[in-house]
Amino acid sequence: MSTRRKFIQQAAIGTAATLVPVPFFAKGSPAKKITVAVMGVRSRGYALATNYAQMPDTEVAYICDVDKEYLEKGLDAVEKLQGKRPKGEKDIRKVLEDKSIDALVIAAPDHWHAPAALLGVQAGKHVYVEKPCAHNPNEGEMLVAAEKKYGRIIQMGNQRRSWSKVVEGINELHAGIIGRVYFAKGWYTNNRASIGFGKEVPVPDKLDWDLWQGPAPRTAYHDNYHPYEWHWFRRWGTGEALNNGTHEIDVIRWGLDVDYPSKVVATGGRYHFRDDWQFPDTMVVNFEFDKGAAASWESRSCNTYPIEGDSRGNIFFGEKGSMVIIGNNYSVYDNSPKPNLIKSVKEERSNATAVSNNTMSPDANLDGVHIKNFLDGIRDGKPVSSPVHEGFKSVLMCQLGNISWMTGRQLHIDPRNGHIMGDPEAMAHWSREYEPGWAPVV
Ligand SMILES: NC(=O)c1ccc[n+]([C@@H]2O[C@H](COP(=O)([O-])OP(=O)(O)OC[C@H]3O[C@@H](n4cnc5c(N)ncnc54)[C@H](O)[C@@H]3O)[C@@H](O)[C@H]2O)c1
Repeated sequence: MSTRRKFIQQAAIGTAATLVPVPFFAKGSPAKKITVAVMGVRSRGYALATNYAQMPDTEVAYICDVDKEYLEKGLDAVEKLQGKRPKGEKDIRKVLEDKSIDALVIAAPDHWHAPAALLGVQAGKHVYVEKPCAHNPNEGEMLVAAEKKYGRIIQMGNQRRSWSKVVEGINELHAGIIGRVYFAKGWYTNNRASIGFGKEVPVPDKLDWDLWQGPAPRTAYHDNYHPYEWHWFRRWGTGEALNNGTHEIDVIRWGLDVDYPSKVVATGGRYHFRDDWQFPDTMVVNFEFDKGAAASWESRSCNTYPIEGDSRGNIFFGEKGSMVIIGNNYSVYDNSPKPNLIKSVKEERSNATAVSNNTMSPDANLDGVHIKNFLDGIRDGKPVSSPVHEGFKSVLMCQLGNISWMTGRQLHIDPRNGHIMGDPEAMAHWSREYEPGWAPVV
């Protein structure tokens, strides 16, 4: 069996994927070029656009950004790599009118993710949407419904689902290498600076603030929103729990082989600085699952002391031992009084760990594997490694963590569908208000 086929099979084993997208090209036909539009290219989108531009038989045909400075930089970088300048456009709705575009890649702020992905599949495009796939639970459910309705791939950008050693480690867990697994841990650390107290200032000439806000209710422009710091405002962002928690909480859910928790409780606060930040910078979210398992995610946005020597990672604990997953590497220990290392599997390259304070692209090669998985899904109709109906279950766990923190109490969850039970105040966070005329529809 070829390595590629084996890899795709391994990747597929790791998910409960059932949706088989319609093959884009007839089986056996030669590889045909896939044309891509990338939305939002200052940081993550720049890394994605330049990565897509280097994929075989792939053309970045549009760059879409509402900020002229980042638009031009993205166009220049992609032109250099592929020898052809993409078209530039600030309004994603105009890009989607172009029938020659096969796929939309979304790396705009979080409040745009689900609305743009919905517009994308409605226009017949396959979608690669950065994590978190949705700003709130209702939007995530809309995406899952749209994936079914429109028969297009919606792949979420939680790239660990395509990393070979992580896939292998999770398969080993499921095969019982440490016996029954009953506890999982994930963590994230960084040394983020304060965002201060923003002031209302004129919108910079280079920026279309109305389009930037898109589906979100309108507000005046402040000097600490764009770029990047929108992550810490609830109107657009989702805090560290979704910004980075999505990665390790997804690995927790995958490793424990569970769909939804039955209890969620979060503690923490904005402790390190006093400023406009509207989420915790220090947070612990605990989950319980009906199968007899629990999990804990610890996050320190402003304190870098590592766990297991690394800024981010996962540990699984079972009857016979433990497994540590860091970057694209995993190690297995027995359960003796001083645990012995019984297996260590490492990515061949030395720089394969994901560095938490590189907020753009911790590892371009590892990003590339996930991008290739998406492109292969489009070409061959093979299930992708992170379809949104799986990705959203993990995003929902992060959203429930934020909702528990905002309401200050433990949430009881229906383990069949992830819904909050008996708590109307918590359920008020299930959706959001939209700017009139912008509410997304399936
Ligand atoms: N998978 C990963 O490892 C990873 C890493 C970093 C970021 N991300 C995700 O990528 C997304 C972007 O994060 P970032 O750090 O690059 O943010 P950023 O603020 O640096 O960049 C966002 C870009 O989107 C543009 N934009 C805003 N509204 C737009 C619109 N309507 N149309 C087109 N462009 C628009 C902005 O002008 C800016 O250029 C986030 O959702 C984040 O969670 C994922």
